[in-house]
Amino acid sequence: MGLRTRILGKVKSVLGGGGGAGGGVGSGGFDASGLPNAMSPDGYKAVAKAGAVTEGGPRTFQAPNGRAAGVFLYKGKLYCIDNECRHEDGPVSEGLITDCRVKCPYHDWEYDFTTGACTSHPENKLETYHVREKDGFLWIGPLLTKGTDMRGGEHNDGMKVIVK
Ligand code: FES
Repeated sequence: MGLRTRILGKVKSVLGGGGGAGGGVGSGGFDASGLPNAMSPDGYKAVAKAGAVTEGGPRTFQAPNGRAAGVFLYKGKLYCIDNECRHEDGPVSEGLITDCRVKCPYHDWEYDFTTGACTSHPENKLETYHVREKDGFLWIGPLLTKGTDMRGGEHNDGMKVIVK
């Protein structure tokens, strides 16, 4: 095997993965947008390049379990919550942010995105996910805490309560 072939083989193996202790880029190569195809050994999925989420600039991605999840950066730490409002499935992460809280853009139910707790209607809670930046990518992992399943509740506009 010539030197050129050996070098190309080495480059290919590095770009194609090789893994790392503790879970990082796997051996499945990369997709068209440059993200690792494979889940990490500890159940994380790469959803963007590192730095894609900024303070006050959350983004929504698909979590490993297929659900939409919002990722927030607050005081230098990443947080990830389910994106479906427990009122009527509004896209929570698209709402107005104040400190560590975000208001659903539909009817202003408010959540603490560091815990998933609904601060305006405390009987409700969003799931939270493990999230991290590693090997130059943003990764969403398994569930960290469970949320509540019920939907419906106060509309504050006279409409009837809807329960799924
Ligand atoms: S859907 Fe979120 S407050 Fe109504």
